Amino acid sequence: MTILVTGGAGFIGTNFVLDWLKAGDEPVVNLDKLTYAGNLRNLQSIANDTRHSFVQGDIAEPDTVPSVLSEHCPRAIVHFAAETHVDRSIHGPQNFIQTNVVGTFRLLEAALHYWRSLEDAQKNDFRVLNVSTDEVFGSLSPDDAPATEENRYAPNSPYSASKAAADHLVRSYFHTYGLPVITTLCSNNYGPYQFPEKLIPLMTVNGSRGQALPIYGDGKNIRDWLYVADHCTALRSVLDRGRPGEVYNIAGNCEMTNVDVVTQICSQLDDLSSGNAVEPRRDLIEFVSDRPGHDRRYALATAKIERELGWQPQETFATGIRKTVKWYLDNQAWLDEVTSGQYRQWLDLNYAKRA
Ligand SMILES: NC(=O)c1ccc[n+]([C@@H]2O[C@H](COP(=O)([O-])OP(=O)(O)OC[C@H]3O[C@@H](n4cnc5c(N)ncnc54)[C@H](O)[C@@H]3O)[C@@H](O)[C@H]2O)c1
Repeated sequence: MTILVTGGAGFIGTNFVLDWLKAGDEPVVNLDKLTYAGNLRNLQSIANDTRHSFVQGDIAEPDTVPSVLSEHCPRAIVHFAAETHVDRSIHGPQNFIQTNVVGTFRLLEAALHYWRSLEDAQKNDFRVLNVSTDEVFGSLSPDDAPATEENRYAPNSPYSASKAAADHLVRSYFHTYGLPVITTLCSNNYGPYQFPEKLIPLMTVNGSRGQALPIYGDGKNIRDWLYVADHCTALRSVLDRGRPGEVYNIAGNCEMTNVDVVTQICSQLDDLSSGNAVEPRRDLIEFVSDRPGHDRRYALATAKIERELGWQPQETFATGIRKTVKWYLDNQAWLDEVTSGQYRQWLDLNYAKRA
């Protein structure tokens, strides 16, 4: 038996693949295009592990997924591959449509064709797990209850609209063709190996270097934060015991404003790398012009996954953020490699006009 992971050289995919091989012996095939967000260095520790096969390829190319499926015959697909950064989707939505919508469509077509060719027993056990986001529900008001799986989709950015489109296609392949798909909607993940364009690694890296900490708008936007290892455990449970055709929310039960998140990162940095002239690092916080259409609040209710699969997050924000900040401080070589080159040009494009 084997599973296929798409996007397994990105942030969550990397954590999932490493976690998967630690938890059991089932091999994993990892299909990734290696965009700016994919980094094979993340998988260095399993470079010689015969249970891991890496295939570089684009899910939106019509022949890619079919050929991986026929060569490796997986019992399940865990689909992470996507363009994921909201700001990039504002500067250039094209890649988001191509990978998130067309790519997911190609993957579903390939999965359907493959699934139909399986024997009955394998057909029953086969799963496609589509990893999606709380952003598909759009912005919640302060008084709204956290979104349940029944909430209406109302995506507001090109990124969330492309993920919503993909989720609708996934749903339709269950209802129309019976393909055993499951969608999970998760909140903001944080932890090791996250590309430092997203809030937590960006602020950690800048803070550790004594550089400015630019926060959009008034910093009061609220997100729920999920430690990536908790997310991986939840995904394994959904793959094992989730019901085909269903949607499961996965969140950390931890809503925080951006400014509170950054302040906590500053405290951890002051504590873990003391003796620096820039302390306290919260003095480095600068409020910059807001992201267009910036959603105010996301929050997810997790009663369904708790009730049906017995999953709950193990990490609090205090414990998770400490591990995370420590990981970035301890992995300077990884950071130096990632922060050279294209990443710099991207930061200039995004932040230069936000005086
Ligand atoms: N990071 C979060 O907080 C978060 C929150 C909610 C949902 N999600 C979802 O989880 C999934 C993984 O997110 P992430 O943060 O790890 O993303 P990421 O940007 O770190 O990694 C994405 C990976 O997909 C690969 N990829 C991109 N286009 C591809 C293509 N056309 N073909 C094959 N591979 C391709 C990239 O090379 C990269 O390795 C995404 O679907 C994302 O929408 C992430």
